[in-house]
Amino acid sequence: MGFRHLIDFGDLTRAQWERIYSRAEEIMDHPADYLDACRGRLEASLFFEPSTRTNFSFQTAMLRLGGTVFGFADPKSSSTAKGETLKDTIKMVSAYSDVIVMRNPREGAAKAASLYSEVPVINAGDGGHMHPTQTMADLTTITRLRGSVDGITVGLCGDLKNGRTVHSLIKALAKFEGIKFYLISPRELAIPEYMRIFMRERGMWFAEVTGMEPVIPMLDVLYMTRIQRERFIDPLEYERNKGIYVLSRRKLERAKPEMMVLHPLPRVDEITVDVDDDPRAQYFEQARYGMYARMALLTDLANQGHQKPEPVEICTKPVCSNPNCITRTEGGYLPALVKKIGGRDCCGYCDKELK
Ligand code: CP
Repeated sequence: MGFRHLIDFGDLTRAQWERIYSRAEEIMDHPADYLDACRGRLEASLFFEPSTRTNFSFQTAMLRLGGTVFGFADPKSSSTAKGETLKDTIKMVSAYSDVIVMRNPREGAAKAASLYSEVPVINAGDGGHMHPTQTMADLTTITRLRGSVDGITVGLCGDLKNGRTVHSLIKALAKFEGIKFYLISPRELAIPEYMRIFMRERGMWFAEVTGMEPVIPMLDVLYMTRIQRERFIDPLEYERNKGIYVLSRRKLERAKPEMMVLHPLPRVDEITVDVDDDPRAQYFEQARYGMYARMALLTDLANQGHQKPEPVEICTKPVCSNPNCITRTEGGYLPALVKKIGGRDCCGYCDKELK
């Protein structure tokens, strides 16, 4: 596929994504040809945060390819609970495995892990930052069911501040032509500034709105998201915003007959169950397509072999002010990485502007 780690969908080219999609289609249509594609390969599954779809679809993906899986779904059962650093955990696990799939509550954790790993690292969600393999599930669903992604109008609805799936999807859709976004959120939960700069820099069309119903008739895809309770520092802010958007069968009456309703799941109350049987509701299929996209990714990354990482400089002070950045907890050694976004200096782990 032409890359080693998958940290941020924005790092991939459209051609690289198309190769993954085309492999995913081959696997869907001819699964028997891939029964041994990862025979003898070991996937390390490091889930420092809860998951149903990502964890199980990565595990089943590897098992369906003939490989095996080990790991944890609760960091309390690992030496992290004794104070082991992420660096040391990754150095050890990468010595035992062929690919690492990691979810972590800290933004930029996957990037940090990739600096110390002998094997490819796949970001299975890093705090409220990015979730690139969810985006692979989203794009696979749209492409398989609609034929193409170019030219669609997408409504992204809910917690756009903390919703990592939304950030990754915007980065991915920047690679397609003629995409329009309606960003539907309360002002408190609007898209982060680094994402707004990203879209402006690329001349992407977007409108930020607070109401879902007025824009529904314009949409080809309505991407609902949960208000991410676990990311709120102030519980009152969560109470103010929970239940703010609810998609019901009645609201769907004004939508195009072919509009697709997607949701990365889990849902709480933002889609009523009477929508589930509407032919436009594709969120359960989307989760199934996610497994095929992950299988396609593993056929390449799990077979790349071991490679010693380049030594990196030791930095003793965190440079980023984002309280959720990985440098706040692992800042005693991580090198200070800086990247330019819209001409501004931003954290090389979590993308937040460095002040
Ligand atoms: N979409 C998604 O990431 O779901 P899980 O949290 O269940 O993995």
